[in-house]
Amino acid sequence: MNKILIKNAEIVTMNQDNEILTGDIYIENNTIKMIGQNLAQTGEEKIIDATKRTVIPGFVQTHIHLCQTIFRGRGDDLELMDWLKTRIWPLEAAHDEESIYYSAMLGIGELIQSGTTTIVDMETVHHTDYAFQAIAASGIRALSGKVMMDKGEEVPTQLQEKTSESIAKSVALLEKWHNHDNGRIKYAFSPRFVLSCTEELLKEVGRLSQFYNVYVHTHASENRAEIELVEKETGMRNIAYLDKLGLANERLMLAHCIWLDENEKRIIKEKGVHVSHCPGSNLKLASGIADVPDLLKQSISVSLGADGAPCNNNLDMFNEMRLAALIQKPSHGPTVMDAKTVLQMATINGAKAIGLADEIGSIEVGKKADLAILNLNDFHTYPAFDMDPISRIVYSATRADVETTIIDGKIVMENRIMKTLEKEV
Ligand code: GUN
Ligand code: FE
Repeated sequence: MNKILIKNAEIVTMNQDNEILTGDIYIENNTIKMIGQNLAQTGEEKIIDATKRTVIPGFVQTHIHLCQTIFRGRGDDLELMDWLKTRIWPLEAAHDEESIYYSAMLGIGELIQSGTTTIVDMETVHHTDYAFQAIAASGIRALSGKVMMDKGEEVPTQLQEKTSESIAKSVALLEKWHNHDNGRIKYAFSPRFVLSCTEELLKEVGRLSQFYNVYVHTHASENRAEIELVEKETGMRNIAYLDKLGLANERLMLAHCIWLDENEKRIIKEKGVHVSHCPGSNLKLASGIADVPDLLKQSISVSLGADGAPCNNNLDMFNEMRLAALIQKPSHGPTVMDAKTVLQMATINGAKAIGLADEIGSIEVGKKADLAILNLNDFHTYPAFDMDPISRIVYSATRADVETTIIDGKIVMENRIMKTLEKEV
C-alpha cells in the first residue's frame, strides 16, 4: 500500500474557511487520510520532511493545449485570427504521432514542475490518442479531447474533417479513455470554436455531452474580430448561439470570455456555464482584459488557465495568478482581485468547474492527494515564515519554488527531480 507522511508543514488548505494549519498530512493510496499535529509514524510510510515548507492544493488549469507546447515562440506579435491561420493551424497540421506525444510530455513536465496537478486540455484534429498515452504515462490528472473542426476558411487540409468523422473519432476516443486509470483521465468534447464548427456538429456535441455526461471545452468571445465573424455567420453572439444549440449548461467550459454582453453573462450565470480566464494569453494575443471582478461579483464560475505555450510562452500557474491580480488593480483598485481570490480561482474554483470539488482543489481529509510542496524561504525578508503565505504565493513565488508535486497520491516530482517522466522524455 502507498503511504506518505508529510511532516511539519505549513498547510494552505483552501478549504471553506481558508484555514492555514501547521502540522502533518498522512496519505494512504491516493487519499488524504489524516491532517494533524505529530501524526504517529509506523515506519512503513515514506516520510517527507516539510519543515519550513508550504503545502498547497495542486493547481487546476482549466484551459491548456498540450499539442501547442512545441510551438512556443511562433507568431509572437499576431492577433488571434492571423495567428491561427498562419502559425497554429499549419503547425498543428504538421503534427505526427510522435510529435503529439512529446509535445504533451514536455508540456506536462512543465506543468508538474510548476505545481499544476489537473488540466483541461484541448488537442488537435488528429493523433489525440498519443496525447492520452502521454497523459496516462505522466500521472497528471486531465480532461482532454480531440479538437473538432468541420468548417472554416484557410484551414489546412489535414485539419479539415467531415462532421460524421469528427464525431465518430471523438466518441471512439471517449470510449477508450473516459474514466481511465480510476477516473484520473476523462474525455471532454473539444469543438475548437464557433467559427470551426457547423451547427449540426455543435448540436450533436450537446446531445453526446448529455448522453455520456462529459464536458464540452471550447473557446468563446476571445477576440473582437472573431465575434464579428460569428455574428456575420450566425446572426448571434457566441454564448447566445451556443445556448440556442443546447450547449449552455454546467458541463460547458468556455475559455476566455473577454467580450461578453449582459445577455451573455446572464446565460452563463443562469445555466451554470464555467469561464476559464487566461490572462497571459489575453494580453499576448492583444485580445483584451476580461472583466473578472464583475463575473465573480455575479457569482459566475471563473477559474484559470495558461492556454497553449505559444499564447503566453509558459504554462506556469504562478504567472497566470499574478497577472490575474495585477491587470485588474489599475481600474478596480488593489483589493478587488486579492491574493486569496486568485488562489481560489487557481485551485478550488477549477475543481468545482470540472465537477471534482469533492475530490480535489483543497487539502481536506477524504480528498485525493493532489499537492504541491513549496519552499518559499528564498526571500530577502525576515522572519519569512510569519508572512501571509497566500500573498507570497500569488505575488512572489515562482515555479522554481515548487520542490515536490504529488498527484493521486503518487510523487511525480520530488526535490525537483521528475519521477514519472524521466524514463519517457
Ligand atoms: N480559438 C480557436 N483556436 C484557438 C487556439 O488554439 N488558441 C486560442 N487562444 N484561441 C483559439
Ligand atoms: Fe486556447
